[in-house]
Amino acid sequence: MASILTDRHGRFHDYLRISLTDACNLRCQYCMPVEDMHFMNRSELMTVDELDTLAGLFVRHGVRKIRLTGGEPLVRKEAAEIIERLGRYPVTLAITTNGVLVDRFVDVFQRVGLRSVNVSLDSLDPTVNQMITRRDHLQIVVEQIEQLVARGFHVKVNMVVMKGVNEFEVGDFVAWSKDLPLHIRFIEYMPFDGNGWSSAQVTTHQQILELLEDRFVFDKLQDGPNDTARAYRVKGYRGTFAVISTMSQPFCETCNRIRLTADGKLKNCLFSSGETDLLTALRAGQDVESLIRDTLLAKHARLGGQLADDYHLTDPDTLQNRSMIAIGG
Ligand code: GTP
Ligand code: 5AD
Ligand code: SF4
Repeated sequence: MASILTDRHGRFHDYLRISLTDACNLRCQYCMPVEDMHFMNRSELMTVDELDTLAGLFVRHGVRKIRLTGGEPLVRKEAAEIIERLGRYPVTLAITTNGVLVDRFVDVFQRVGLRSVNVSLDSLDPTVNQMITRRDHLQIVVEQIEQLVARGFHVKVNMVVMKGVNEFEVGDFVAWSKDLPLHIRFIEYMPFDGNGWSSAQVTTHQQILELLEDRFVFDKLQDGPNDTARAYRVKGYRGTFAVISTMSQPFCETCNRIRLTADGKLKNCLFSSGETDLLTALRAGQDVESLIRDTLLAKHARLGGQLADDYHLTDPDTLQNRSMIAIGG
């Protein structure tokens, strides 16, 4: 019998992204609504036991990779305990963080074998960085990234490229990876609830390559079968760079990802309008597995069935989704 994690399009989902909280110690404009941000109450969050129970269920059904996300996952009070608990499962454990608090967790990462850390950083210019994050942590984050690399972690730096904001910095990010084995990823700007997205602000994969071509000579690298990023290496560089091209060249055919929000809702796509309340079912002693199967079977072929194939035609006001901070990316 087919796994409950296989959808109608034949895609098997062995990669679970779990958000630990919708709280964050930064205030990035593209990630959270400027107005009317409603943060979850503690009672709405999965407890550590509930999160562990649901994660265990997914692992029994074939999940092989778990990425912890947020908000900022490391501001969750029980973050270390959750990492320890999930570290017992036979999965590749990874985390996406803004880096501000990382040094407090390096030991627990090493203890449980968490080797892969993705750090969000959108500008190396102090003024621009402060404008985007509405906080002043650039220096700390750069240091944390370099320390993670020095301690042998596989570190990817996520830069959301926004037209007229940080697009001309792409070359500076690539230059940072000359002597450091850093993996820079440029992400096309995506629409989420309340983030004020417009298609005019997207710098596409092609445009990013054009911005880099004057300054670097680079080769295409081989990508993994389920990678969302298309990777390149500048000749002679220790690091790499890649582009996540959701808007201009979506990669949904090979999607293997599902998402569990901090309040225990299962999303079958980053852009799904629907979500399934696994937590309430778990608390009521109901059959969670059949809910998971039905959620997978309802998965659209592409982009949650919501975004237009040509991103210029996507009207952000018609999308039904959460804000990014409440999804976890
Ligand atoms: P890896 O496990 O290293 O491949 O991580 P990742 O790149 O999937 O995760 P990360 O949390 O670093 O996210 C980087 C960017 O990719 C964010 O903008 C995410 O929203 C986006 N992303 C992650 N997963 C998906 C996905 O399934 N679909 C789309 N369209 N974008 C995704
Ligand atoms: N478009 C693209 N990427 C985004 N992220 C947050 N909001 C957006 C957006 N609107 C990225 C963050 C983080 C990852 C989980 O998602 O930079 O690295
Ligand atoms: Fe998967 Fe949805 Fe992302 Fe496409 S947009 S790759 S279907 S999560």
